[in-house]
Amino acid sequence: MKDPANSDPVHRLALQLSHKEMRSGASIAEALGYSRTAVWKHVESLRKRGIEVDAVAGQGYRLREPLEFLDESSVHQHLDTRSRSLLKQLKILGTVSSTNDWLQSLDRESQHACALLAEHQSSGKGRRGRSWVSPFARNLYLSLGWRFDLAVADLACLPLVVAIAACEALDACEVPGVRIKWPNDLLLNGAKLGGCLVEVHGDAAGPCLAIVGIGVNVRMNRGLAGEIDQPWTDAASVNPEISRNRLAGHLLNCLLRNISVFAESGFDPFVNAWKDRDAVAGSQVVVSQAGRWHEGIAIGISREGGLMLQSPTGVAEYRAGEISIRQKDL
Ligand code: BTN
Repeated sequence: MKDPANSDPVHRLALQLSHKEMRSGASIAEALGYSRTAVWKHVESLRKRGIEVDAVAGQGYRLREPLEFLDESSVHQHLDTRSRSLLKQLKILGTVSSTNDWLQSLDRESQHACALLAEHQSSGKGRRGRSWVSPFARNLYLSLGWRFDLAVADLACLPLVVAIAACEALDACEVPGVRIKWPNDLLLNGAKLGGCLVEVHGDAAGPCLAIVGIGVNVRMNRGLAGEIDQPWTDAASVNPEISRNRLAGHLLNCLLRNISVFAESGFDPFVNAWKDRDAVAGSQVVVSQAGRWHEGIAIGISREGGLMLQSPTGVAEYRAGEISIRQKDL
């Protein structure tokens, strides 16, 4: 199994720092087995990742602001009994290219029920080939591997079920009112709070492995505003006290609960939750699919999770695509 320990020296260094007390370069060097020069170099790299570090000659280093790093035992503390028994592995890493890709690179038997959280993604992936802006120690980047004894086609509604789980977890962390723009964009007050990327691998007839990725903006760096190509927001704008470790625990609880229900009973148990969260029902929208645009009023979803659109020519279903909501309907 390709399973690197925490091989990110900048992350290891960050875990040694606090915003309360100065920590000397010598004691960090000793704790991590680095030279003093390496400590200094990694402090510089941490700054380049957007984390402000104060350095005082003769005293050492300190974080300028309090930062909550992800921590396995803190996430574990928030897991319910179901999650504790279902999860085979919970891993936290510093930098990965993409948490989905990291899970994909594991051996087959290690992928199922493995959850990975990373502090930073160097090539975070969004839907439809876009990139996902993933600054260090600010947000949540989570992937879960899950094997289903179902055909690939039976998982058509899984991305919707995952988005519902993310909304429920945010509710539990005092970030209420998150809605879903089909198929699984998480919107708060009309701006993008997060998104889900579900990648399914395996035999068309099953079984198959779903890699379920969720990204939530928790405390996004304001300086990155220009890198995101749409209006965005973060959870801290509604709940400034939000804990990333607690949210990670709740995301896993809601995800594992919804996935278990879905594997057993399909999408029917989620129909009402979807209706409550649907950000587009009743709105005039434009669906772009394979370079073509279709305009109409969104009237909900089909049993297969497709978007139903009412237009003057009738009702049509779209199984894939991207929707934009007419501004007045947001
Ligand atoms: C989207 O709205 O476009 C989907 C964004 C999904 C981002 C998450 S972050 C964790 C996981 N790893 C990735 O590379 N992408 C997903």
